[in-house]
Amino acid sequence: MFLDELHLINFKNYRNSSFSFNPGLNFIYGENGNGKTNILEAISLLCYSKSFLMNSDSDCVMYGENRYDISGGFENASGTKSRVKISYNKDTFTKELYYGNEKISRLNEFIGSFPLVVLSPYDLKLTSGTPQDRRRNFDLLISQVSKVYLSDLRDYNKIIKQKNSLLRENVLTRRYQPGEVRDMVSVWNSELLELAVKIIFRRLDFIEEFRKYVEECFNIIVGTRYIPVITYESDIFEGTTDTRFEASEIRSRLKNLLESRLDAEIKRGLSLTGPHRDNYIFSMNKDGTLFDMRTFASQGEHKTFVVSLKLSEFGYIKENLQHTNIGDPVLLLDDVFSELDKTRIAKISQLITDFNQVFITTTDVDHLDVLKQSFRETKAFNITNGTAEEK
Ligand SMILES: Nc1ncnc2c1ncn2[C@@H]1O[C@H](COP(=O)(O)OP(=O)(O)OP(=O)(O)O)[C@@H](O)[C@H]1O
Ligand SMILES: [Mg+2]
Repeated sequence: MFLDELHLINFKNYRNSSFSFNPGLNFIYGENGNGKTNILEAISLLCYSKSFLMNSDSDCVMYGENRYDISGGFENASGTKSRVKISYNKDTFTKELYYGNEKISRLNEFIGSFPLVVLSPYDLKLTSGTPQDRRRNFDLLISQVSKVYLSDLRDYNKIIKQKNSLLRENVLTRRYQPGEVRDMVSVWNSELLELAVKIIFRRLDFIEEFRKYVEECFNIIVGTRYIPVITYESDIFEGTTDTRFEASEIRSRLKNLLESRLDAEIKRGLSLTGPHRDNYIFSMNKDGTLFDMRTFASQGEHKTFVVSLKLSEFGYIKENLQHTNIGDPVLLLDDVFSELDKTRIAKISQLITDFNQVFITTTDVDHLDVLKQSFRETKAFNITNGTAEEK
């Protein structure tokens, strides 16, 4: 799948701009603060309906205006073209998404239609940041290949939100008798249990499958001296060294935890158990010793880990969508090269040659010469103050 054209109206510093991209490399260069990242952000809005930078929609509307409009033309692996439009009105807080002529109201019908892999300086937080950063990253990744996962996750989050608001309200107002609260929370628990089991089971399955992509990427970028390891951290593994369970085992452990923590949850006014509290741990086996990334990795090791992780997402999505006619994901690399040394840049250029459509932003136009050798087709755009000039 690739993005053929893009139109932006009142989107950040683009008043009214059109781009015609090519299916290979699109090289976007220009000085700081001119609007390179903004283009990638618009692409991520088209594919995910959200900005990869987690910016709010109203911040994306050009200063002094009240709405933005983004539209794009995609072509899938079998040559079928489709249009996607997304707009946001900050006066009425309305966001509208159209896929062809159809208005999309449920996002799980849409996510995964135009799969995307994004690597930006923001992602450097992945290895060092919070469990939430890592969950969010992998949730989005799995959701792009599984509508079932996305819909389970949304249903689960809805229940957790309701359960949390009941628990919180009870702590603040003491409106209910202890027995009453226990009954009410137990009802939510029985509703969320099956969804929680499915989510955890899918995540464990994902880690198993994802492993080979990350190991391969790592191997290409840094050689076999390092082996990346991703493990799933959850209270269901308490007291065992197992890292994989059957669904029935997850269910019974989770059920026990929910029951044994009921009083603690009521006391603290917070839901303490379930996949929304779990974590992905990144470690590296370096010369035979396993060490936790968060605590022990050097700056360069963090970067390498994140780059490998993100580039692995490409292979994972590609293989999982092979039976569809969607085609390979689009890759967005935002200002990635400024973070890395020359050898690694060369390795990454090699690695992404086999990729589908790639967008790269950089302040350094010199990277183009190296990249040109790796891609069959290249188009370069020079960005100055919200206008693009094809070079
Ligand atoms: N809502 C908005 N309306 C108008 N302009 C905006 C809006 N939001 C951001 N901008 C402008 O967009 C510019 C930033 O664009 P962007 O982040 O794409 O730059 P960049 O070319 O990627 O820069 P860098 O090389 O530093 O990463 C800022 O100068 C900012 O003034
Ligand atoms: Mg930028």
